[in-house]
Amino acid sequence: MGVVAVYPGTFDPPTKGHLDVIRRGARLFERLIVAVAINPEKEPLFSEDERLTMLRQLTKGIHNVEVASFRGLTVDFCRKRGASVILRGIRTFSDFEYEFQMALTNRVLAPDVETLFVMPSEEFSYLSSSMVKEAVALGGDLSRFVPEVVLKCLKRKLGQG
Ligand code: COA
Repeated sequence: MGVVAVYPGTFDPPTKGHLDVIRRGARLFERLIVAVAINPEKEPLFSEDERLTMLRQLTKGIHNVEVASFRGLTVDFCRKRGASVILRGIRTFSDFEYEFQMALTNRVLAPDVETLFVMPSEEFSYLSSSMVKEAVALGGDLSRFVPEVVLKCLKRKLGQG
């Protein structure tokens, strides 16, 4: 039986950088579950449903990718879904410390779940969802970094579309 992996994140909104990680993960694992983390302490711009819909549109051509949301611990979600791997992307050296802490904490919580990292393409290495939201809100063109469906949702949300 092949390996099932979970790619957790906030995805507020998903960018081409996230899609790059998803595509790499889909090639590596039998099944990849893109998991939208619902954190009651965060106030995302996009609702849970909006993030799920955007991610489903973006991944509809990738047969072994599923999109879901979860509350609580990522490792509990992994166990519930039979996943033995947490997939994360490392963009720059500055991501490393946070990812290192998170991977080791998750290992304490669930020694049977392994965190694996991929490097997204360098053209997306400095990209973040906050920067995308800020630039689009101020009228900047970031279509290079944001999939068309997301850009449309973003403009609508910001009253520009
Ligand atoms: N391309 C572009 N941007 C990327 C990216 C990529 N490949 N990977 C990450 N980013 C950006 C995101 O857009 C986001 O930008 P923002 O801060 O401007 O919004 C930022 O990097 C953080 O990325 P994200 O993947 O959303 O991570 P996160 O830190 O919000 O999510 C969780 C972390 C959800 C995985 C983590 O909080 C978690 O596991 N939560 C569940 C609770 C839990 O288990 N806690 C214990 C963990 S030890």
